[in-house]
Amino acid sequence: MWSATFVLLFSCYGLMSVNCVSWETTKSLKEHLLGNYSKDIRPIRNQSDPVIVKCNIQLTDIVDLDEVHQILSVIMIFTLRWKDEFLGWNSDKFEGLSYIQMDQEKIWTPRINLHSNLDDADLFGDVRYRLTARQNGQMTWTLSKKISVTCLMDVVLFPLDTQRCALAFTPLLYSTEEVKLVNVEQSVNTSDLKPHGEWVFGNSFYINWDYKLDEFNMSVLYMTMEFKRLPLFFLQNFLVPIIIISFLNLLTFWLPDGSGEKASFSITVLLALTFYLTSVSSYLPQNSNEPILITLFISFLLTLSCLTVLVSLILINRHHKHQDIPQSTENNHNVSMKENKKHGGKLDKLWGILRCRNSERRKCGFTIDVLLFLIFFIMWISLTAWFFVRLFRLL
Ligand SMILES: *[C@@H]1O[C@H](CO)[C@@H](O)[C@H](O)[C@H]1NC(C)=O
Ligand SMILES: *[C@@H]1O[C@H](CO)[C@@H](O)[C@H](O)[C@H]1NC(C)=O
Ligand SMILES: *[C@@H]1O[C@H](CO)[C@@H](O)[C@H](O)[C@H]1NC(C)=O
Ligand SMILES: *[C@@H]1O[C@H](CO)[C@@H](O)[C@H](O)[C@H]1NC(C)=O
Repeated sequence: MWSATFVLLFSCYGLMSVNCVSWETTKSLKEHLLGNYSKDIRPIRNQSDPVIVKCNIQLTDIVDLDEVHQILSVIMIFTLRWKDEFLGWNSDKFEGLSYIQMDQEKIWTPRINLHSNLDDADLFGDVRYRLTARQNGQMTWTLSKKISVTCLMDVVLFPLDTQRCALAFTPLLYSTEEVKLVNVEQSVNTSDLKPHGEWVFGNSFYINWDYKLDEFNMSVLYMTMEFKRLPLFFLQNFLVPIIIISFLNLLTFWLPDGSGEKASFSITVLLALTFYLTSVSSYLPQNSNEPILITLFISFLLTLSCLTVLVSLILINRHHKHQDIPQSTENNHNVSMKENKKHGGKLDKLWGILRCRNSERRKCGFTIDVLLFLIFFIMWISLTAWFFVRLFRLL
């Protein structure tokens, strides 16, 4: 019993400021502080000096970086510190009470505006968070908030792109002579950042400057953050299939002219490429000032595929035209040839040379297909090489 009382008294002595302050003391301190307080006036005795608001930002979550709508969503913890010259007290007179929690509605708080914010103009207007007042008048306001801002994204190098988004914070209602917003650290604190599947945080920096708006200067705190895309998903799901399918396209020339397969095969490949172009486009913003490399690449492959279809159709057409000739009777042969010459003219002559009509047909058919395959293969390989050089910025 005695020892328990002794321990209680002892711990009371040791932790006086935390545990053993009476309700009456806290109440009288609040009355003392707020009795003559006016929350509409900046808490500085010399009203020609600015209130310095120190801002520290911690990034905890990357919610989304939406390329299509160009919106960045993150969760951040803000710590705002300023000195309130009217909220200081002598802790000896209040049982050693060195800090108390304050209600944000009852005292002056800096209102902060975030430019390009999709929600309210007053960034912390709707949240109620810890606001701690210390005996020397130091105020600490800690808030956690999800913010969504527009961010112009550059997806030219998709999926190896790096996005840069700038957040601009400025005190609402006050000019730079009244409230100044400054950063404490040089970069955003990311020690508690949770990993994101698609994006990794690069670096960040602050810029502090005065922005002239109409008649007065506003203090603006710019915070720029970099996010680098993890490309594995897109490489696996888009780039590898596109390259394989477009290579299949070249094998069209391997099929015989006689069957209709040549046309249907090349059209199937064309459709597959169109499907990939649509899929990739759904990940990209609708308007872009510069052509997006991957879309350009797929468009070129599509053009190549269209050319293959065209060439296949010509080959099939010519094949059937020439196959009709031997089918006609011996007597009519010369007549057919003459008619053919009338219709075809120079093109037929060229065809004859390419097909080497006089030698064995099969061997010559193979020759023209090999020639076409080589031409298309060179086009395909130079296109692919161009794309990778540009994408990885090798040159
Ligand atoms: C408020 O100010 C008046 C006049 O300066 C003073 O008499 C009074 O004691 C103050 N009240 C508190 C609670 O500080
Ligand atoms: C208030 O601050 C200004 C500028 O810092 C100074 O010129 C002025 O003398 C100060 N006024 C008082 C009453 O201290
Ligand atoms: C970042 O925040 C954590 C937790 O709030 C803190 O421990 C750490 O010191 C901070 N890092 C820097 C560089 O300020
Ligand atoms: C704004 O800042 C500029 C340059 O710092 C200064 O010349 C100008 O007087 C300021 N305007 C106001 C209204 O204080």
